[in-house]
Order: sequence, then C-alpha cells, then structure tokens
Amino acid sequence: MSDNSENPRSGAAGRTAAVIPAAGRGVRLGPGTPKALRPLGGTPMLIHAIRALTQARAVSLVVVVAPPDGTEEVRAALYAHPLPDDAVEVLVVAGGENRQESVRLGLAALPDTVDVVLVHDAARPLVPVELVDAVAAAVRGGRPAVVPALPVPDTVKEVKPGEGGEPEPVVATPDRSRLRAVQTPQGFDRATLAEAHQRLADEPGEGATDDAGMVERLGAPVVLVPGHQEAFKVTRPLDLVLAEAVLARRRATDGF
Ligand code: C5P
Repeated sequence: MSDNSENPRSGAAGRTAAVIPAAGRGVRLGPGTPKALRPLGGTPMLIHAIRALTQARAVSLVVVVAPPDGTEEVRAALYAHPLPDDAVEVLVVAGGENRQESVRLGLAALPDTVDVVLVHDAARPLVPVELVDAVAAAVRGGRPAVVPALPVPDTVKEVKPGEGGEPEPVVATPDRSRLRAVQTPQGFDRATLAEAHQRLADEPGEGATDDAGMVERLGAPVVLVPGHQEAFKVTRPLDLVLAEAVLARRRATDGF
C-alpha cells in the first residue's frame, strides 16, 4: 500500500508548483543577454533558481516565464543544463510587458491539480532550498500568503521625487524597526493569488512588483517568515560580484 503522506510531490492534497518570472531584460545590470541567462559560476542564473526550486520537497512543477522573444533561448539553456531530478516537470511560457503580466501568464499555464503556488524571481538564483521548503510548508499549514522577509539595515526615507537632478525633499522617516525587506519565493493558496491577478489585471500603470501586495489589496491576510541573506536579488553589477563569491564559498565548503 502506498502512503502519500511521506511524499508531498504525490500527495492527495494537490500539487505545489513554482512560477519563475524570468522575462526581465535586466537593464540595471548593463547591456547584454536577458538577465536570467547571464552566467553565474558558468551556469545561467535561471538554472540556479530552477535547481533551488526543484530541490524543494514539495515542488513537482516549475513554470518558467521567459522573455517573449526568448523562449527558445530559455529552452536551449534547460536542454544544456538538465535537472538532476526528472520527477519535476518544467514548462516554458512567454512573459509580458511587466512582472505582474509575466506572473499572470505563468499562472495561466498551471494545471487544475495545482493548489499551492510559489512565485520566485529568476533574479534570486541563490535562494537556499530550506527557505523554499519553509514557505511551502507555511502555505500548506493554512496561510493563504507567505512572504520571506528580513529587517532593513539602513534607515529609509520617504521622498517627494525631485525633478531634473534637484535634491529630493524628505517627506517622512518610517520607524525602521517596523520595516521589512521582502524576498521570494512568495507562497500562495493558488485561488487567492489567481483572484488577485484577475481583479487587478486591467489597472493602469506599471503593474505590481510584488505579488503579496496584490493579495493585500484583496484584503487577504499576508504573513512574513524569516528570509535569508543569500536570497538577495541580483540587480546591479555589484550584486553579481557578491553572487559569485557566495557560489565560490558554497563550492568550497560543500562541493555544491
Ligand atoms: O525588474 P525586477 O528586478 O523587479 O524583476 C524581478 C523579476 O521579474 C525578475 O526575475 C525578472 O526577470 C522578472 N520580470 C518578468 N517580466 C517582466 C519584468 C520582470 O518576468 N516583464
């Protein structure tokens, strides 16, 4: 007799999928190939991110949201870097104009059997698998929206954006002890996240950069769990230097 409780990938409760928005151009990193395909330790960032998600016990499907003109490049990268675990299915879909649209297109590709979704930025390639597991477990434990976060080391100012290089006037200084910087993967009850994306799809503007913020606007409760320093986002050139150093240390200490 089989016992599904030991293997969350085949549990009767429904599947857990990861959606990886990877359709950004990464202009802040400088010119070149799409950010998700830039190498880190010789391997594209996106491949690191996919490996981290597929190593999580719960995840049985990964949907990669590629640049609209880059789906073949992403498929070629996946072919060149096969996953060690073929129990995990990987789909590639084309992304949109902004992150919100890319996530919505990723969600649309999920089969009906998926009831928990983790949304993870390709730009956070070094997320530890323990963090992925912790977020997934908290959603399975009944939280509709779970976000990893860290305290903010700097004091943060709210400004009225200045024009033409003028110094920016400060509007407020929020109490730092009540601020958190959020990371990914953010975990959601699928129906809750899908509803948020459906309701806010037609709003004007640049689109949300944070899925949890969209769920907050529905009025659903969002909770934070401790994030991890190594889940940082690779945005600017110095972040690449840090990411290479973290990877080199991992390789030296645990043969990663
Ligand atoms: O630009 P930002 O750093 O906020 O991007 C976060 C994530 O969203 C990245 O992994 C990026 O590839 C993704 N993204 C996307 N589609 C866009 C813009 C960004 O999937 N149109």
